[in-house]
Amino acid sequence: MGKLFGLVGHPLGHSMSPLMHNTEFKELGLPHHYQPFDLKKEELEEGIKALRLLGIEGFNVTIPHKVSIIPLLDEVEQEAMEIGAVNTVYRKDDLLIGANTDGQGYLQSLLKLIGEDSLIDKKILVVGAGGAARAVAVSISRSGVGSLTIANRTLEKAEELCRVCSTYADVNAIPLDTASSSLETYDIIINTTSIGMSPETDRVPLPVKGIKDETVMSDLIYNPLETLWLTQGREQGAITANGISMFVEQGALAFEKWLGIKPDRYRMQETVLRKLGGL
Ligand code: ATR
Repeated sequence: MGKLFGLVGHPLGHSMSPLMHNTEFKELGLPHHYQPFDLKKEELEEGIKALRLLGIEGFNVTIPHKVSIIPLLDEVEQEAMEIGAVNTVYRKDDLLIGANTDGQGYLQSLLKLIGEDSLIDKKILVVGAGGAARAVAVSISRSGVGSLTIANRTLEKAEELCRVCSTYADVNAIPLDTASSSLETYDIIINTTSIGMSPETDRVPLPVKGIKDETVMSDLIYNPLETLWLTQGREQGAITANGISMFVEQGALAFEKWLGIKPDRYRMQETVLRKLGGL
């Protein structure tokens, strides 16, 4: 029997999750459907009650509800609690359980990019300390990392994120404007801020001058597919990657939580790239 899945957020006009999941259901011959549910902040509580009544099997959560959904759920997994945000909800009997696949999705996509199975010998710089940075930094720390530095314009937010990660890793916080003086130290630099995202494509989160050869530069942004920061890094000899594979991987991990089967990640990525004009 067909099952109902969905996406809760506002606004949802540009989300690619419905296309990615519905295409995969179809390709796998599954009768399920993934439906966007555009809920404003004041509609969230009633909206979740309605989704329970509809017997929804699972859903993703996006801006602006990743934090405010937490008290409306029956349980939240520990990693999601540490990140402080939920992007995936699944059902266990009649309970709605919150999880976060953004962090694991990022971690898996990074390991694939570098072709290794651990970050234990890597020195990593995370730029930003907002919601996306929390998912990335917590999951990297939990997996084990050589060292992690978090650089943010507002130092207090980086320090707060450091406290969460310090249970698992050697981590420190620095102001964003000092990060550029030590870029040769890092094996991997990750931009989690929105700097460089369309339409402000002429901006970079930090300079690339001073990075060592073959530094891995990873930008969570995928619109544009290559930010100015990545272009500059590539020209300097960096190994660069955009946020598409994280997006696909977080969706694939949600899919697995809902259905217990592995979707075809390559095909999901092709679906997304075709939509974004990258194929
Ligand atoms: P998200 O959930 O996408 O991470 P967010 O929680 O609003 O969004 O976080 C945005 C991040 O980008 C923050 O680290 C923010 O820095 P502050 O904590 O100092 O606000 C960073 N950011 C956004 N615009 C920025 C800018 N123009 N210069 C420097 N940092 C910026």
